Amino acid sequence: MATVTLVIALIGAPRADAAAPPYQDPSLPIAARVDDLLGRMSLDEKIGQMTQAERASVTDADITTYRLGSLLSGGGSAPSPNTATSWADMYDRFQSRALATPLAIPLVYGVDAVHGHNNVHGATIFPHNIGLGAARDPALVEQIGRATADEVAATGLDWNFAPCLCVARNDRWGRTYESFGEQPEIATAMTSYITGVQGGGVLATAKHYIGDGGTTGGDDQGDTQLSEADLRAIHLPPFAEAVRKGVGSVMISFSSWNGQKLHGHQHLITNVLKGELGFTGFVVSDWNGIDQIDGAPGMTAAEVRQAVNAGIDMVMVPEAWRTFIGHLRAEVQAGRVTQARIDDANRRILTKKFELGLFERPYAVRAPIGTAEHRALARQAVRQSQVLLKNDGNILPLAREGNRIFVAGRSADNIGYQSGGWTITWQGGSGAITPGTSILAGIRASVAPSTTVTYNANGTGIDSSYRAAIAVVGETPYAEGQGDRPGAMGLASTDLNTIARLRAAGVPVIVVLVSGRPLDIATQVPNWRALLASWLPGTEGQGVADVLFGGYRPTGKLPVTWMASAGQQPINSGDGKPPLYPYGFGLTY
Ligand code: GLC
Repeated sequence: MATVTLVIALIGAPRADAAAPPYQDPSLPIAARVDDLLGRMSLDEKIGQMTQAERASVTDADITTYRLGSLLSGGGSAPSPNTATSWADMYDRFQSRALATPLAIPLVYGVDAVHGHNNVHGATIFPHNIGLGAARDPALVEQIGRATADEVAATGLDWNFAPCLCVARNDRWGRTYESFGEQPEIATAMTSYITGVQGGGVLATAKHYIGDGGTTGGDDQGDTQLSEADLRAIHLPPFAEAVRKGVGSVMISFSSWNGQKLHGHQHLITNVLKGELGFTGFVVSDWNGIDQIDGAPGMTAAEVRQAVNAGIDMVMVPEAWRTFIGHLRAEVQAGRVTQARIDDANRRILTKKFELGLFERPYAVRAPIGTAEHRALARQAVRQSQVLLKNDGNILPLAREGNRIFVAGRSADNIGYQSGGWTITWQGGSGAITPGTSILAGIRASVAPSTTVTYNANGTGIDSSYRAAIAVVGETPYAEGQGDRPGAMGLASTDLNTIARLRAAGVPVIVVLVSGRPLDIATQVPNWRALLASWLPGTEGQGVADVLFGGYRPTGKLPVTWMASAGQQPINSGDGKPPLYPYGFGLTY
């Protein structure tokens, strides 16, 4: 043994592959590996690294032929069958095609795992961000980030388009629930999510830079009309903290600032984000976002030029990626996009790929998803996210024993409704769309055999023998602009009729509101005995029942001001408008 040790000591342990070029040597500094690799790349290989295509718009061969550097799954874009194994098989197949290129640069695969690995059937679905904002618990959110990363990585993927650090200033916005709240300090604190995700070896994304939650009228992808001082005061702090925490990527907002599209905004992207804040990761566009720069449909060479010169490093161009590649090649060859800008973008992208360890471990390391441990964490997050807004006569917590409880409402037994958008499909769905515990199931599991729980979605069958009625009502799922509510913001007539039926029986009504934002309920609340804002809790509805039956004393605080009427929108802390419930409000018992 001594002889062998002596020999190795003399000549040095042989490297993994003595003929391997430096960029494939993990013992070298990443900067040196990047320099070596960059020096070997053609213009087309560099442009390929800047191109992100959607999984359904490429063939396996395209990945190799066009040197594609990244793929994504848009909301709900899943392999069939939609299982963790299928996802990992798909990822490995795509990755093998990327490694079949001459330089064998691994691809990075992005997905919106915005409240758990929500595209995948069987994944743990956590509360949407507005509920996590109500919890005011950065350590909890870091744990959620890590659990989410573990489930993303378990399917092979390595890039999460989260957290959304939007500061929602108008509740009409369809993405209000993707925000942690109306004040920057909450989103700033919840950048702990980034530490969790990246601690799990997955790239995080601070999005959408900048001002997406501040548009006039809450119009999704609209115009944020603010002075630079106010833009910086309200919308910049979460991104500054994300950069300080080492976020690996930043996604650009569809919205505009004072009429100029963010996707073409060199001052905000290059001067502020990369210069002033010192962001060294890479900037990715949003879904066909560069096509909106000139206000006309379609992608032009001028838009490609403006976006890349503004500082966008990777372009999310789901279908028209061939067109993008052609435009960018022509712009570089014409000298309108410099080689230095191309190299800077590649340096940023490749640095993250090396940091992720993709060159050493390009394939999926498979593991279970939807584990009991993650579901327990999600249940705790649901508990902490509940905000008790009314509790007349201390009707809550309800007795577990010897009680007669009537449960009603279209959101009571509906995993899809309680999860909201970005769940299995982009817009979300209805019913048992993925394994979980409905709020009704949680209620049933919370009571002793001596208690009767009767359920009817519209309240039919209730009578005065019941001691309490729980109406679980609210919004049906939506995502992005499809959730904008420019008009009325009240409960649907279905829900109002259900509550009326319960009240007509003379039974005290407890309303559990499953919604992505405050609703216009001021005229109805006086008729309710109690009101619990549940937000969009995800698969672990038991956490709601824990608060209803005293398993967890409510601690949640409003992350958004609750309007007294829709006409007040936008309504935010400090604007002098009299709310129904103020920012930070929340009861306990
Ligand atoms: C969407 C969203 C963005 C998401 C991206 C990829 O349009 O704006 O949040 O990450 O496209 O699905």
